[in-house]
Amino acid sequence: MNQSDHQAALAAIVGAANVLTNAADQAAYLTDWRKHYTGRAMAIVRPGSTEEVAAVVRHCATHGIAIVPQGGNTGMAGGATPDTSGQAIVMSLTRMNRIRKLDVTDNSITVEAGCVLATIQQAAINVDRLFPLSLASEGSCTIGGNLSSNAGGTGVLRYGNTRDLCLGLEVVTANGDIIGARADGEVRGLRKDNTGYDLKDLFIGAEGTLGIITAATLKLYPAPRARVTAFAALATPRAALQLLTLAQQRCGATLTAFELISDLAISLVERHYPPHRSPFAVRHPYAVLMEISDHEDEAHATAMLEGLMEQALEDGLIDDAAIAQSLSQSDDLWQLRERVSEAQAMEGKNIKHDISVPISRIADFIETTDALIAAAWPGVCMVNFGHLGDGNLHYNVSPASGETEAAFMAKQGPVNKLVYDSVERFGGSISAEHGLGQLKREEILRYKPATEVALMRTIKAALDPQGIMNPGKVL
Ligand code: FAD
Ligand code: MLT
Ligand code: ZN
Repeated sequence: MNQSDHQAALAAIVGAANVLTNAADQAAYLTDWRKHYTGRAMAIVRPGSTEEVAAVVRHCATHGIAIVPQGGNTGMAGGATPDTSGQAIVMSLTRMNRIRKLDVTDNSITVEAGCVLATIQQAAINVDRLFPLSLASEGSCTIGGNLSSNAGGTGVLRYGNTRDLCLGLEVVTANGDIIGARADGEVRGLRKDNTGYDLKDLFIGAEGTLGIITAATLKLYPAPRARVTAFAALATPRAALQLLTLAQQRCGATLTAFELISDLAISLVERHYPPHRSPFAVRHPYAVLMEISDHEDEAHATAMLEGLMEQALEDGLIDDAAIAQSLSQSDDLWQLRERVSEAQAMEGKNIKHDISVPISRIADFIETTDALIAAAWPGVCMVNFGHLGDGNLHYNVSPASGETEAAFMAKQGPVNKLVYDSVERFGGSISAEHGLGQLKREEILRYKPATEVALMRTIKAALDPQGIMNPGKVL
């Protein structure tokens, strides 16, 4: 069969309108969000049901055609972008966006893989529940992508990563079988199920290299009665760590976000997204954005945050504080955090490091690594921000003033090595929440023990013996 025979066979499964073959229709699917990778594809295939996904996979398995699964295409590691051979298909799951079931007694929701995260959050709110996964890309990323990259976001310190929010998965395997469904067709979603290896955990975080997630049953939580946000100005990440300990002591499980933002990161948002501005009259090196989710009421939450801020000021941990008095003030403060990535992208290319170290070592990591970078490349700018409450930093390096993008990006290899070697010395991970994709698939070999990489290869060979699932990613 030649390419047009395959395109016709795929059209017979999903409908001609859902097989995109011309360049203009394909373009949006072939470049990643950061515009670091552009590939080519034999076709973009958009199935509308699990059965269609399975039939497409069976066709590809029979003919050895590579499949690159794609959700909202907001990933940061190039995982959803095909290579340049033009031999693969991109399978976009975005048509599979139904909410199949929501049960307030089970506290669970079953959704198809292409459901946009914000849609799931809203469905939960509609029945007075919370789906706590929260990312700046929530308006366009899909739950299939969230699960496949085991996304983190801002609620991890309280609710865990996407893996922790998943009760069950429906998956199409690399040979086209459908697993994870009960005899009646519903996705299994038990809170207790110790019947051998937990297969769903293999597919979570696999970045589409083992199979295609078609639906998931997810945990819901009681909706908090009030969410109150505070913004605190500080001198150092070390002070932020002390504030985290104090906040956990005083607020316990009501502390649902604790984000660190450097002043440079804030000033990028101010430059590219006016009218969002720091609430403080003078500049401070760092800020922390905190959120309390309270099951009493807003007055209780505000009083708790006020007490915390007063003590932190008295103890000399913070230099100033602002507590949002309305939803719109809270939204303004969140925008200062959530717009950082987009503001960075508007500024030009930068070298990103999505890393984690033990929470207790974050301040030492930043001090040590900042000094190493300043000594090696005087003048480059550090744009640090991230999820301090769970030990995850977006430790980003931007060009020195006047440096051309090309000259700066030529440093990427050595900058990465310096940062990742430092992460290693601090007992951390070179990919906290964005995955490996094609961005870090070589670098991981330096840091992951060879025996563990070999086990990963064994799993890949067992589940995808032909190597058709998202080749060139992760491994
Ligand atoms: P895609 O980018 O389409 O795909 C991601 C990976 O999953 C690829 O390897 C793809 O092949 C695979 N995949 C997608 N769907 C499926 C499926 N159904 N079955 C199998 N494999 C599949 N990430 C965080 O973790 N935390 C953050 O705070 C965060 N903030 C972000 C903010 C911005 C502004 C942006 C642009 C991105 C951010 N991200 C963050 C990264 C990204 O949004 C997440 O990784 C998200 O989970 C990806 O979802 P997606 O649907 O866009 O996946
Ligand atoms: C974030 O927390 O905003 C993201 O993970 C995106 C990024 O690192 O740019
Ligand atoms: Zn993040």
